[in-house]
Amino acid sequence: MNATKDLSPLQIERLKYQPKLPNSLRQGVNRLELIQGEKTKAAGDEKQIKELFKNTHGKPVVTFKATGNESISKKRNVGVILSGGQAPGGHNVIAGLFDALKQANPENKLYGFLGGPAGIIDGKYIEFAGDFIDEYRNTGGFDIIGSGRTKLETQEQFKKSLEVCKKLNISAVVIIGGDDSNTNAALLAEWFAENNSGVQVIGCPKTIDGDLKNGQIEISFGFDTATKTYSELIGNIERDALSAKKYWHFIKVMGRSASHIALEAALQTQPNIALVSEEIEEKKMSLEDIINYMSDIISKRADKGKNFGIAIIPEGLIEFIPEMKSMIANLNDLMGELEQDVNFNNATSTHEKFEIVQNRLKDENTKVFESLPALIKAQLLMDRDPHGNVQVSKIETEKLLIEMIKTKLKEMKSQGEYVGKFSEQSHFYGYGGRCAFPSNFDADYCYSLGYNAFALINFGLTGYISLIKNLTQSADKWVAGGVPITMMMNMEKRHGAFKPVIQKALVKLDGPVFKKLEANREDWALNDKYKFPGAIQYFGPASVCDATTITLQLEQGKL
Ligand code: FBP
Repeated sequence: MNATKDLSPLQIERLKYQPKLPNSLRQGVNRLELIQGEKTKAAGDEKQIKELFKNTHGKPVVTFKATGNESISKKRNVGVILSGGQAPGGHNVIAGLFDALKQANPENKLYGFLGGPAGIIDGKYIEFAGDFIDEYRNTGGFDIIGSGRTKLETQEQFKKSLEVCKKLNISAVVIIGGDDSNTNAALLAEWFAENNSGVQVIGCPKTIDGDLKNGQIEISFGFDTATKTYSELIGNIERDALSAKKYWHFIKVMGRSASHIALEAALQTQPNIALVSEEIEEKKMSLEDIINYMSDIISKRADKGKNFGIAIIPEGLIEFIPEMKSMIANLNDLMGELEQDVNFNNATSTHEKFEIVQNRLKDENTKVFESLPALIKAQLLMDRDPHGNVQVSKIETEKLLIEMIKTKLKEMKSQGEYVGKFSEQSHFYGYGGRCAFPSNFDADYCYSLGYNAFALINFGLTGYISLIKNLTQSADKWVAGGVPITMMMNMEKRHGAFKPVIQKALVKLDGPVFKKLEANREDWALNDKYKFPGAIQYFGPASVCDATTITLQLEQGKL
């Protein structure tokens, strides 16, 4: 253990926190009965998914029940991978997995693959020792073994992974990741089964974005802590704005494509403007429409003498604005070609690069690209992620909106339609929330997910995601079990070819969460109904410390 003098007082106290488990798991991992439900089908394209996952498709959803009989667990070695973006609670998944594994048989070993999926391919790993894990209990971050975004999907990678598992005598691998990583977990599980490798694969639902959820998974871990962290800061900014009354704050929040984080933060803080990308796409709102909508609110507030306000902007907005979406798709294809283009690579100024791009985009997309400020053009030309997508966290949409609103307000002023004074501040709340100390909810949920993942392994299951349900109840009433990953899959076009993937959950515009915003936003726009959630509390009454998100409560009819 680190010398306690190096730890903050909160860290010292959090290391002692004992995460809560569902009642069914509390008797211990050797005292469980497996209840099997009906056989399952894929979320879509049943025929193709069945064909692609001959060994792992159609398995039943399972739940665990505590039993008085103690079973003997055979000795097992397990490997664990942290995959993709950090999310608060990842360390507790590993702690829960470790505790269950050692409880089942003290001779069991847990290996951690280093730096994400690349660790299992390259054979880079550590063996976990109890006192090492103890240093990380209830802490944020993925630094215990590191994370990475390598896609685990080729035969070559699967073969190398199997060799590493055989060398370490590993009979199960747990992949902690989002929709893409769990899709890869399903592919790996199928390949291991097809090749009679004897290695099981279990996934765990992670991502602050909250877009890995469906009829079975109620929420991915990390969403709770990240949204509470962002909401605390937005609440603080609201109070600052209300005190000084001189700035409009444009706050972009993470979430990649889905606007779940922006929506949850909006419900927690009640800002003057909250954009929801899914609505913008559905209503086919152009960039100009968005600027008009925001400028109108800014102007109406100015009429009331309020030259300040708060606007929340979802990170992925730019890709949902129809004309931008088309231009970005065109640009993504073009970027592949430009990588080999001598003129583009030898261009000495960004201006020259813009010219080359403008000449090669389709006409209608050229106009859109040309209309953007140089800063945004340059950001759109940055490297793509491993999936070939624009890295939306690097696009300063908040600054784009500010620039365009300034121009619009100037125009309105010249026509006597705007009487205010616009002074702005921009913020991006993203990385600062991904490694926060997990809330009690995420600490308990993650520990349960990890503990439960070992229970699934112990019953010989593969191609399943660790499932903890009933999450708006107290932890003792949570239901533990597993869901076959294929049940969440369908076929989608990726890079020109149809591939099996887990469906990404975007904000449902007919769902209770969006409806709540829709019913209130006019009121929040002009009347200051700001709410100040304050910092996450780790000690104190359960009503404060254990409460989960407004999103989950609305979705489960609890509000
Ligand atoms: P995951 O989907 O892997 O959980 O990552 C989520 C996320 O935090 C997004 O909100 C954000 O757009 C992205 O990661 C940033 O990626 P990176 O960490 O590679 O910059």
